[in-house]
Amino acid sequence: MDGVKHIVAVASGKGGVGKSTVTVNLALALSAQGYRVGVLDADIYGPSQAQMLGVKEGVRPQAAADNKFLPLEAHGIQAMSMAFMVNTRDAMVWRGPMVVGAFQQMLTQTQWDNLDFLLIDMPPGTGDIQLTLAQKVPVAGAVIVTTPQDIALLDARKGIEMFRKVNVPVLGVVENMSLYHCEKCGHEAAIFGTGGGDRIADEYDTTVLGRLPLTLSIRELADSGRPSVISEPDSSVSRTFAEIASKVAQSVSASQSGGPTISFSE
Ligand SMILES: Nc1ncnc2c1ncn2[C@@H]1O[C@H](COP(=O)(O)OP(=O)(O)O)[C@@H](O)[C@H]1O
Ligand SMILES: [Mg+2]
Ligand SMILES: [Zn+2]
Repeated sequence: MDGVKHIVAVASGKGGVGKSTVTVNLALALSAQGYRVGVLDADIYGPSQAQMLGVKEGVRPQAAADNKFLPLEAHGIQAMSMAFMVNTRDAMVWRGPMVVGAFQQMLTQTQWDNLDFLLIDMPPGTGDIQLTLAQKVPVAGAVIVTTPQDIALLDARKGIEMFRKVNVPVLGVVENMSLYHCEKCGHEAAIFGTGGGDRIADEYDTTVLGRLPLTLSIRELADSGRPSVISEPDSSVSRTFAEIASKVAQSVSASQSGGPTISFSE
């Protein structure tokens, strides 16, 4: 793809597990490590990158030559989303082929500027968009986001199996909402259970890239358009994102240079 070195999909089987939150913070963490990063919001029915990146409503990408669009810029990263192009309330009732068409247009008509990593915030599930992505562009790898409870893991399994079938390497699993962390008294509770990420990583011979707690600040900061990684760069959440970013960067360059795949242990 023009202007893009490595494409990384951030995916899950299930909605609401934190894909968009992980995508934006991972993008900012990679950017903080000196990489040039872009985010493509492919969740046409529920795009959230505009809000998480603090892009004001109504801001539109500029047209460039050759029928292309320039991505928007926010916090030093380049971003493109269906929400920038159409009224997403209209898109809500689109049929499958229209959604796929719109996604392909975003993939082929965005003029990314010299990116090391393009992160794709995928819609939930294992449908048309996932297959279109794998068939149309070379995807370096997929990061699977899951919460630890069985019902989410069941969907995460489907996601992993789908990427395997289309020969996209699974870079690892991010376990989100692992522990509830009370910011007032510091007590912790495993609301969605424990160990789910490990189980699935074992089962599919992949790795847990990181575990993120369920906290008020992760939600508030993402909603406010200034996600944790830039609002509180020294927090343990931001350190976890930095570790995830390093692992993703290393395993992508290792697998694309044809070298051995690096695996990580705690
Ligand atoms: N670790 C977390 N702690 C608290 N809230 C979170 C966390 N991860 C995600 N959220 C919140 O949960 C909701 C769903 O997350 P989102 O990233 O939009 O999920 P998805 O993209 O998978 O649908 C959002 O309101 C988000 O702010
Ligand atoms: Mg989302
Ligand atoms: Zn408390």
